[in-house]
Amino acid sequence: MEKLCKVFEPYFKIGAAVSSVTVKTHAELLKQHFNLVVCENEMKLGELVDDNGVYDFSKADSIYNFARENGMEVHGHNFVWHWQSRDFLFLGSREDTLQKLGEHMKKVAERYPDITTFDVLNEAIDDKHGLYLRETKWLEKLGEEYIRDVFALARKINPKWKLIYNDYNEYVPEKQDKIIKLVSALKSEGLIDGIGMQAHLNIESPTADEVKRCFERYAALDLPMRVSELDVSLFGFDDHSTDITAERISRQEALYIEYFRTCMEYKQLVDSVTFWGVSDETSWLNGFPVKKRENRPLLFDKNQQPKEIFYKLCELA
Ligand code: G3I
Repeated sequence: MEKLCKVFEPYFKIGAAVSSVTVKTHAELLKQHFNLVVCENEMKLGELVDDNGVYDFSKADSIYNFARENGMEVHGHNFVWHWQSRDFLFLGSREDTLQKLGEHMKKVAERYPDITTFDVLNEAIDDKHGLYLRETKWLEKLGEEYIRDVFALARKINPKWKLIYNDYNEYVPEKQDKIIKLVSALKSEGLIDGIGMQAHLNIESPTADEVKRCFERYAALDLPMRVSELDVSLFGFDDHSTDITAERISRQEALYIEYFRTCMEYKQLVDSVTFWGVSDETSWLNGFPVKKRENRPLLFDKNQQPKEIFYKLCELA
């Protein structure tokens, strides 16, 4: 059988979001098809450190070590986010918050010296019409300049990191305008090295035209692009039905093909395509936005076997 990361070697790296469990249960599949991993949760600030400031690196270590032993790149996810963070960061002054964040970054940099790219900031933009930045504790404590400050801090702590801004709904035109505004401001100060397009797609959205437009617009920023969390749900976001039909699967395949073709077209800028999970069995979409609903958003089925779409994508290369 073809190896996905070998097939796409001339284009970009192929990544998977993993957990401390899936690096064991899906070890062979990972070794065969992927040359990049990212921790689905284990490297988020609130997962590494508890409310008392006590660190537990054991789960992230197991993933990092698995990747290093198998020659895979590790991407860092993430430092600043409105979820999976910790309240102690916000107890003191503005300077205290930045200092604590800097100490955290330093610990991570020292522990994981082989990590070269990091999502410094995740999902800072509001999806609502007319609003720019999301209301978060970071914004509340540090003011709008926090965006610049956290990137400058990451740059200072580890000049070797490539600093990424990562967001979802990146293919929605109004959100796109806001992302481009944020990224352009950072770029003008040399504080950003790439953009993470999460690519949580579903069979209703985006359209083929939106996919094209999305790559076109981000490419104009002339920064490396990472497709950072790719999956294609069998259900539109507001569709709460549960039936998995042949029609849904064929629409999913069509979107996967369209999306991969476009990634390949932009291979000069796209440095990796990372799936948000390894097989359908453990995808976060089995619990979101509808709890306990089977979804099949990835290339490998729940028995870790390649699906039809796996072969169809390989044929593109
Ligand atoms: O760790 C606790 C565990 O101790 C507890 O027993 C269990 C009970 O529910 O919860 C565990 O925490 C869960 C955590 O994943 C680790 O498994 C949380 O409940 C659950 O909400 C959390 O979900 C993660 C989600 O981020 C949190 O926001 C998903 O697995 C993860 O796929 C998802 O990933 C995000 C990206 O980071 C950013 N982009 C969107 C993407 C999908 O939402």
